[in-house]
Amino acid sequence: MGVGWYFTLALLAVTSAVVNGCPPSDRAALLAFKAALHEPYLGIFNSWTGTDCCHNWYGVSCDPETRRVADITLRGESEDPIFERAHRTGYMTGYISPSICRLTRLSSIIIADWKGISGEIPRCITYLPFLRIVDLIGNRISGVIPADIGRLQRLTVLNVADNLISGRIPPSITNLKSLMHLDLRNNRLSGELPGDFHRLGMLSRALLSRNQLTGPIPGAISRIYRLADLDLSLNRLSGTIPESLGKMAVLATLNLDFNKISGTIPPSLFSSGISNLNLSRNALEGAIPDVFGPRSYFTVLDLSYNNLRGSIPKSVASASYIGHMDLSHNHLCGRIPAGSPFDHLEASSFVYNDCLCGKPLKAC
Ligand SMILES: *[C@@H]1O[C@H](CO)[C@@H](O)[C@H](O)[C@H]1NC(C)=O
Repeated sequence: MGVGWYFTLALLAVTSAVVNGCPPSDRAALLAFKAALHEPYLGIFNSWTGTDCCHNWYGVSCDPETRRVADITLRGESEDPIFERAHRTGYMTGYISPSICRLTRLSSIIIADWKGISGEIPRCITYLPFLRIVDLIGNRISGVIPADIGRLQRLTVLNVADNLISGRIPPSITNLKSLMHLDLRNNRLSGELPGDFHRLGMLSRALLSRNQLTGPIPGAISRIYRLADLDLSLNRLSGTIPESLGKMAVLATLNLDFNKISGTIPPSLFSSGISNLNLSRNALEGAIPDVFGPRSYFTVLDLSYNNLRGSIPKSVASASYIGHMDLSHNHLCGRIPAGSPFDHLEASSFVYNDCLCGKPLKAC
């Protein structure tokens, strides 16, 4: 056998190492990412050794064709045996290193529920054109949402809930035309909702609860055809409730509780597809619209802690179902109607009004 034959063999060996392994540059990027984190209890990074980062590296997976790293999935709360053996949930400190951005084929970054990861969201992630999922829920990440987040044209999930993120919702966010799930709950976001929020045409869940958002609810949100769950509760939103929210095709949950919303309740909300409606703790006034009917179906209808006046409309009894209803802490007056749903509600649903009477309160 000649030298040429050995050369061919050597070449084959090198090629197959590249085909089966991960590119050395991806491996180096992962090791730099790992170096910025400290995970003391489970040892998840102990598996990050050897040359093939596509094989048995905990939480790493590669595209089978390109052999490039495609997903980082590190969850601090999971059913994985590693957690059962340790009898605890995960805890990790450190920060998300910008070296993650050298993994240019990344499709998902899930670094969730580690409780102690701080630092900021690396700005460079907006240059990862294949990103579909960014899930950083349940850490101590601070700083802002990257201003040019709108570059991520394939992003379907953006979840940074339960962190310490501040600043405004960047205007570019409305360029995320693939976004289906937006969860920014429980952070320190301030400023107004982008006026063109409705450009998020694929959105089905918009969860922005527990921030410091101000300004009005843009009525055009109702143009988001697939929106099923809108949670704006526990903010400082003001203005009135757009009537158009009650005319949305699939909106099922509308939580606007604990804001500074004023004006009257749009009648459309009570004859819509909304089954979970919480308007508690605002400054709503006027009467409860007398428009309930067979289309009205509520598992939760909470209107407590407002300035509602007048009597409880008789049409409530014609709703097809009302599970939990709370009208307490308003200025309602008059006789509580008989029949369903009033026969299964307790006094606490009616207390602290001006002059409601009849079962389950005192006789009139
Ligand atoms: C409605 O919102 C209020 C205020 O945020 C909250 O206290 C209450 O539990 C909510 N109601 C229901 C039924 O979840």
